[in-house]
Amino acid sequence: MRVAGRMTAEIMNHLEKLICPGRVTKEIDALAEKLIIGKGGIPAFKGYMGYPASVCVSVNEEVVHGIPGKKVLQDGDIVSLDLGVLYDGYYGDMARTFPVGKISESARDLIETAEQALERGTLQSKPGGCLGDISNAIESFVVEKGYTVVRDYVGHGIGKKMHEEPQIPNYGNPGTGPRLEVGMVLAIEPMVNMGTYDVQVLQDNWTVITRDKKISAHFENTVVIGENGPEVITCQKKKH
Ligand code: MF3
Ligand code: CO
Repeated sequence: MRVAGRMTAEIMNHLEKLICPGRVTKEIDALAEKLIIGKGGIPAFKGYMGYPASVCVSVNEEVVHGIPGKKVLQDGDIVSLDLGVLYDGYYGDMARTFPVGKISESARDLIETAEQALERGTLQSKPGGCLGDISNAIESFVVEKGYTVVRDYVGHGIGKKMHEEPQIPNYGNPGTGPRLEVGMVLAIEPMVNMGTYDVQVLQDNWTVITRDKKISAHFENTVVIGENGPEVITCQKKKH
């Protein structure tokens, strides 16, 4: 799983370099597929329940599961990339939200909040804790910042299947839910909205958008519950 996770993160690093005004979203998908296959992996999302691409590209009010296509990224947009790789029988799954060109202060704050919410949840991913501790750490942090967490989509266990038990809501009560045990692997993925947490699915049957059309940010890592605490296995190396 570490190998699959590292591969996923490396590919995300390359995709990030494509983010700029004028970029057509299907170009990001083309590179994702080329890199995954070039490294001997399989695009985990392509064909999953009929999803047609290797990476989900969700712009502005799109929350998750946006389909890359002819859309052109504009200065001031935010764009979420969600990437899944199957390698040697194991899945890696991660998401990041990036600014396109110069974005507003409020958009930047939303992105930072979503990233920090993932960190808060990750810190609770340790043996002896329980699932609700992760959920609550995410929710309480986001709500304190004045934003909302999406309720209709959740994180998940991950391993030989992309989606395993348990489901990991981004809201809930501490001290509830299953015990966290050494060796569990979780895909923790807060989706943070500027306005209402309510979402809807577009006519393409995939793209999830906010009901109020305000923007949304999404961060996801694959995280191992280690003896000494969380180990993020989709960790991107620091830039030099
Ligand atoms: N990270 C998302 C998830 O865990 C990606 C699935 S999108 C799909 O559900 F395209 F594969 F459906
Ligand atoms: Co996921």
